[in-house]
Amino acid sequence: MEDNILNPKIVANEIVKEEEDFRHLNNPADGIKPITKKYLGVPTHVDKIGNKFYFTDGDAKVEIVVVNIEIIRVRLAPHGVFLPDFSYAVPELKHKHVPVELIENDTEFIVSTGKVNCHIRKADFFISFSDSNNVVTSSDAKAMHWEENTKFGGYYVFSTKECHADENFFGLGDKPTELNLRGKRLTNWNTDAYSFGWNQDPLYRSIPFYISVNEGIAHGIFFDNTFKAYFDFGSEDKTKTSFWADGGELQYYYIHGPHMMDVVKSYHILTGTHPMPPIWALGYHQCRWSYYPEAKLRAVAKGFRANKIPCDALYLDIDYMDGYRCFTWNRKYFPEPKKMIQELAADGFKTVVIIDPGIRVDDNYPVFKEGKQNNYFCRRSDDYFMEGHVWPGRCQFPDFTNPEVREWWGGLFDELVEMGVAGVWNDMNEPAVFGSGTFPDDVRHQYDGYRGSHRKAHNVYGMQMVRATYEGLRNIRKNKRPFTITRAGYSGLQRYASVWTGDNVASWEHLKLGNIQCQRLSMSGIPFCGTDIGGFSGEPDGELFTRWIQAGAFSPFMRAHSAGDTKEREPWSFGEPYTTINRKFIELRYRLLPYLYSTFWEHHRYGFPILRPVVMQEQHVLKNHFRQDEFTYGDKILICPVLEPGQKSRMVYLPHGNWYNFWTQEVVTGGEEVNVPTPLETIPVFIKAGSVIPEYPVMQYTGEFAIEEVKLNVYYSDYEANSFFFEDHGESFAYEQDIYSEKKFVVNGDERSLHIQQSMEGLYTPRYDNYHFNVIGLPFTPSKITVDSKEVTDFSVSDEKVLEFKFSKTFKTIQIHK
Ligand code: GLC
Repeated sequence: MEDNILNPKIVANEIVKEEEDFRHLNNPADGIKPITKKYLGVPTHVDKIGNKFYFTDGDAKVEIVVVNIEIIRVRLAPHGVFLPDFSYAVPELKHKHVPVELIENDTEFIVSTGKVNCHIRKADFFISFSDSNNVVTSSDAKAMHWEENTKFGGYYVFSTKECHADENFFGLGDKPTELNLRGKRLTNWNTDAYSFGWNQDPLYRSIPFYISVNEGIAHGIFFDNTFKAYFDFGSEDKTKTSFWADGGELQYYYIHGPHMMDVVKSYHILTGTHPMPPIWALGYHQCRWSYYPEAKLRAVAKGFRANKIPCDALYLDIDYMDGYRCFTWNRKYFPEPKKMIQELAADGFKTVVIIDPGIRVDDNYPVFKEGKQNNYFCRRSDDYFMEGHVWPGRCQFPDFTNPEVREWWGGLFDELVEMGVAGVWNDMNEPAVFGSGTFPDDVRHQYDGYRGSHRKAHNVYGMQMVRATYEGLRNIRKNKRPFTITRAGYSGLQRYASVWTGDNVASWEHLKLGNIQCQRLSMSGIPFCGTDIGGFSGEPDGELFTRWIQAGAFSPFMRAHSAGDTKEREPWSFGEPYTTINRKFIELRYRLLPYLYSTFWEHHRYGFPILRPVVMQEQHVLKNHFRQDEFTYGDKILICPVLEPGQKSRMVYLPHGNWYNFWTQEVVTGGEEVNVPTPLETIPVFIKAGSVIPEYPVMQYTGEFAIEEVKLNVYYSDYEANSFFFEDHGESFAYEQDIYSEKKFVVNGDERSLHIQQSMEGLYTPRYDNYHFNVIGLPFTPSKITVDSKEVTDFSVSDEKVLEFKFSKTFKTIQIHK
């Protein structure tokens, strides 16, 4: 033991006073007592290798890596030896070669990119960050510290930073609590949390990324550590923010703002964005545990078409399998699956099937046999197989952290794809085990060659499972985009899958919670997210279900799902007036599909989140740090779901600027709360002035018929505003070869005229010829319209003062005059 030998200062500081911070370490099961934390001493030496700087106190080493001018990574090696630089979240650290300066003065070393300065204080190794105006944005409240783990080896690692009076915190994935995390202590450990409750922690996913906003300036911390990890945002001590983990390296990225949006975009530079989904995946999905036998599934399909409610995807939950054995079919319930899937497809339904990680121990089951022969299943420390009970009974579990296993697993989808299965749903991949909850700590994992116990691999297991699924589908389907959905995951999972928030409950509280969880997931790097609409367990009444459909119409992922012991839960199950309203909102989803698809492109290409809480628009307004109901969908449409029963109206905050009430087209000036009527038929929806919102005709499923013209809804504004409109084939990866069309519209008006300009990028030409313009909110009666200097004479103005005309989609400039 080299307790307290780092330097005399540490001894003098008396380590004991820090111990109350992290009581979890006193868990007697760990057998680790007493706590003896060690702190960095005094930095005495510095080395530079390229963009990496090494500071040491004679024993421990700290590495400072300049990733780009806005991102700096900090790593600690307690005894000077770093672990290999490997991360599932950051597959490739894309260093940008930027000029970096190392400045030394009497009190500190400073690594400066020009935009961010990383200060290393000479007296005590405290690390802080400042911006180019020398505003300190983040600073250590204690030197980085650690505690030796005598049971497993390695260290418990800790970082503690200052927390300011008005500093607020956001992010961390799907924590079921207030959007603002100030005052909370939270844990990352993927957990199957059936019927979870408000403030229950942890849940299914671990996203160790948060954003701080203090005095209007944002920065992010991404603590890339897969072990059980903890975050304290001024909970134990309101002047301190800490994060720590039960193992691995103290390794974090400081991500510069100053805007929250800059932080999120930079986080995506590190961890990647979601690839473009097949466009059908943005339609409405209907799920249940379970639709069987085949006749039941077909009746549901028929119900959609008979009720004229659009739907693109139907799901098969575990009962489609033979004894819950993955990659098999229960032939009693589904005698001819291929025929059924193909007939559903002919009627516009994609079939999505569930696949869990537990493989039944059964020597007559080919998947088990193959896995066993090839040694693909996880083992315990003393070489016994990891066994546990899940749906199929006694199971073993593939080690998805082994690339060879991932490849094998990906190949297993061959037959399902050949049958026409269009998407795969990975569940129970926390991994969940009945009784014990999950695997014991000592299970070994290959971890892409960087071996470790389940303590290290637990939080990435689900992500690596869905990665194997995604990559397998991509290989088998050649150039077709896979659709995958996962319950568990870790930072970076967005490169492989969409997510849903797990087993929620049919209650108003859960509708509220889901609204927060989706916003939070979105700003934590997981754009393609949704809840089980209606609530998984329990029974919603018609009102709750309809309010959930209305909110879900603006979720990036829209799926109704329910447990097997509940009543029927299709959009028509509650009778009138609910069916009509549900239909109207699902139709609205399809009308706005090109807008959502364009927003997805903005995410994929530029790293913008799809849902943006109000605080992301106006982080300098402290009050906005506490708003969590309203959000924007993309940056043009503001939504505020109705989250209470019987609510006839509600207050909605609109950020600054002018907004159009989508239903009445009345203009409202933002910057304050407005009272909005909320009869059951509507929820508050506002469109930002200056927006161009593309609209498709209502279809019963995507691609039902060829689009003949696209509506462009242009909302007048007296300031300049930009909009995007993205289109492509909707199914292939051709967009990677620039086969897409990205249009940019610029709208600008004054009292007498409105100008609309269009520019285009990409090599894709949509089939339709014309745009149907709907110009809303003109403050004058139009008398003359010129497009690319040709006059348009055929136009009309409706009673609602909407100007309508048509013109070729290739227009460049439109001028509308009084
Ligand atoms: C889990 C899933 C749920 C699914 C059920 C049966 O509870 O979260 O969505 O329906 O398992 O597969």
